[in-house]
Amino acid sequence: MTGPAAQAAAVRREFERIHGRAPDGIWAAPGRVNLIGEHTDYNDGFALPMALPQTTVLAAGRREDGLLRLHSAQGDGRITELAVADLAPGPVSGWARYPAGVVWALRERGLPVGGADVHLDSTVPRGAGLSSSAALECAVAVAYDELYALRLSRPELARVAQYAENAFAGVPCGVMDQMASVCCAEGSALHLDSRSLDVRQVPFDLTGHGLRLLVIDTRVAHDLADGAYAELRAGCERAAGLLGLTALRDLSEAELPGVLTQLPEDLAPLVRHVVTENARVGRAVERLAAGEPESLGPLLTAGHASLRDDYRVSCPETDLAVEAAVAAGALGARMTGGGFGGSVIALVPSAAAASAAPSVTDAIAVAGFVTPAVLEAVPSAGARRVG
Ligand code: GLA
Repeated sequence: MTGPAAQAAAVRREFERIHGRAPDGIWAAPGRVNLIGEHTDYNDGFALPMALPQTTVLAAGRREDGLLRLHSAQGDGRITELAVADLAPGPVSGWARYPAGVVWALRERGLPVGGADVHLDSTVPRGAGLSSSAALECAVAVAYDELYALRLSRPELARVAQYAENAFAGVPCGVMDQMASVCCAEGSALHLDSRSLDVRQVPFDLTGHGLRLLVIDTRVAHDLADGAYAELRAGCERAAGLLGLTALRDLSEAELPGVLTQLPEDLAPLVRHVVTENARVGRAVERLAAGEPESLGPLLTAGHASLRDDYRVSCPETDLAVEAAVAAGALGARMTGGGFGGSVIALVPSAAAASAAPSVTDAIAVAGFVTPAVLEAVPSAGARRVG
């Protein structure tokens, strides 16, 4: 037996072995790929992510003594024990920052949260730009929401998870990954407005249209905490300030030529990317609504060119993966997530999928780069209780 039910059963058994009691429940939260709308979320803009079948599955049982006892199948075998009342940004390191950060963020909101026993296991590849940390945070957020009867809305859960990542783990990310993890629905992409946190499920029927979405994990390290992401974010905020805007979301494509000449040379390409990328999200949603997912291809490839040339967050490995995918018959391809490595998505006709994956892998190996891992993205369910 494989799949989510087997993963949940295994997590339950492990929880019982480690914590010596039954859990109160089991929850799952997925990783994501973003179809289009990259580096737009912290500009109050739009994105179109979808959840992956790869999830973090977490068993949890409430404790009345205020202790948070965390165990991960991906950890070193030890239980990390923390007092919820003493949680503060700084001392907690490694994977435990994410679950501890969520409990801290809930407590910071003044919510009545206490301790828990936790065991978790994740199939979301780490460091691949597929939001393994958001999956972990969101699994804890939905579990705590039920364990402590908090009744937070989905956007509130995403904000809590994002705050944990920003202020506890020290990664200045936007809200897209957490919104994707809590709000996505099976069979759909999520049209996200990062300002209002309004979402719309946009049906994305790949198989019905003879398509597959491949994820090429280049295995090039990607670390959003390394400063480059924060610099880009600050550059966008500076540009918005110079233009007298609340955020770059408030600039339309039609206004772009007029403002680019007013901006310093280092900021103009950032603004061009964000504005054209927001417009590409709008076009992608129109095409999906028209029942033409195959016509997303050119938008994906144009989005990659913008991330490579204007935003400068791609790298030789992701550029090559995009080129090789298109050469192997993909309708379009682009890096997904924050960049600086990570993964590429490629929209491929089903008939070409079997040969496309090895063609891309070979092209990357011939260039002397690390052999990538190839997964398939299927629009999957968002965070939920599974047991
Ligand atoms: C990372 C961040 C997101 C978003 C993307 C780029 O995944 O966590 O908030 O900014 O990069 O679109």
